[in-house]
Amino acid sequence: MINDSSAFLTQFIRHPLTTGAVLPSGSTLARDITATVPQRGHPLVVELGPGTGVFTQAIQQRLAGRGHHLAVELNPTFATGLARRHPTVDVVHADAATLGGLLSERRLAPADVIISGLPWAALPGNRQSAILDAVVGALDTTGVFTTFAYRHALPTRPARRFHRLLTEAFDEVTVGRTVWSNLPPALVYHCRGPKAVASGSGT
Ligand SMILES: C[S@@+](CC[C@H](N)C(=O)[O-])C[C@H]1O[C@@H](n2cnc3c(N)ncnc32)[C@H](O)[C@@H]1O
Repeated sequence: MINDSSAFLTQFIRHPLTTGAVLPSGSTLARDITATVPQRGHPLVVELGPGTGVFTQAIQQRLAGRGHHLAVELNPTFATGLARRHPTVDVVHADAATLGGLLSERRLAPADVIISGLPWAALPGNRQSAILDAVVGALDTTGVFTTFAYRHALPTRPARRFHRLLTEAFDEVTVGRTVWSNLPPALVYHCRGPKAVASGSGT
């Protein structure tokens, strides 16, 4: 998708810290990170940071018209484009940290699945904690949270801090295979058993 790639690059140049990548994720990473979307029933699926919609498309394919898909995007250009392309998705231009309020406004139950495309390693500690608190507060006790990390960035301080926050916030954090075909290579964290709000560190 050359148009998506150039749109993404433009947004990276304008908003490098919140966009957090120069290219959209690839389809293999999208398949891995959305594998937790149930293929039966009517789940509530929340997507954070959809960008140009690679994960959105994969979620919609798995839902096949079932459930409710809420996509929360901070960048108005991405949000407008996504809403146009996916009229059946509940796209909202908002900060992921306000997720609890967004669900309350819609009178929606806790989420069955939350899928994040957020650039965690580009966020300061207080923002990581605030958004992770919102995720933990919005997720059903039997729900699952998936998010990805770029492999090359794992040794960095923000990425290690984020991993620590995940292990504080969930009973179980497992790491998926590395998707080497992704640019850059990335892996998925699967988090279950939300146990408490993340502790703010700011470090
Ligand atoms: C690394 S891009 C990932 C985009 C897409 N999920 C993908 O994998 O191609 C990060 C996305 O998160 C969005 N974002 C960053 N901070 C956000 C926040 N606080 N709330 C909602 N979206 C945010 C950015 O605008 C961007 O669309």
